[in-house]
Amino acid sequence: MKYLIANWKANKNIQAANEWLDIFLKNDLSFIRGQVEVIVCPPYPLLAIVRERLKRLSFFKIGAQDVSFFPGGPYTGEVSAATLAGLVDYVIIGHSERRQYFAETSRLLFQKCRQALDQQIEPIFCVRDAADVIAPQVRFVAYEPIEAIGTGQNESLAKVLAMKKQLHLPHEAKFIYGGSVTDVNLTSYLTSPAIDGLLIGAASLHSESFFALIKKSVLV
Ligand code: PGA
Repeated sequence: MKYLIANWKANKNIQAANEWLDIFLKNDLSFIRGQVEVIVCPPYPLLAIVRERLKRLSFFKIGAQDVSFFPGGPYTGEVSAATLAGLVDYVIIGHSERRQYFAETSRLLFQKCRQALDQQIEPIFCVRDAADVIAPQVRFVAYEPIEAIGTGQNESLAKVLAMKKQLHLPHEAKFIYGGSVTDVNLTSYLTSPAIDGLLIGAASLHSESFFALIKKSVLV
């Protein structure tokens, strides 16, 4: 089973999400079952609507892009794992944009993982290189080199595989690559048995191009 993770980042509102879903759901999606798990990660306010509209399709899962390191309680503006429970299956933790713009440290990211796991939410733990420490309990690790994110300069398969050897992956963790994945380069990664899935930003924002990626991933 391969994993395709759509990271919408801080894009879309209700109208745009519905348009994405309207177009996406016009496709015959039945071929995806058993081949690929597709994890859609919209901004918090759109989680419920995306979940509602994809819920009859078991091969779609929903992910949040972040979670509070606090438990629920008096933390204005935070979204706790307890709030996300029942709404999402996964949560992206430690994306380089959060490390960079919100100064998130390994210690804080470990706390986020603990909060998520306590609520049976699966962390997708992102690292930029081998210097980022991986929380030991995680089962999904996404390697996203900074130079490759949003630049069109995807990292070569050879380099991704070399980095995989340097990372201290938890036992049996799934290994995900992210950074400028497109329909042109997706196959090169997915043909490698060492890569379990892809984290896709820009190419997931248009439903037709994302659908094209899914179709290609099934053909691998
Ligand atoms: P990108 O983003 O596909 O636009 O490079 C990937 C990510 O940051 O998760």
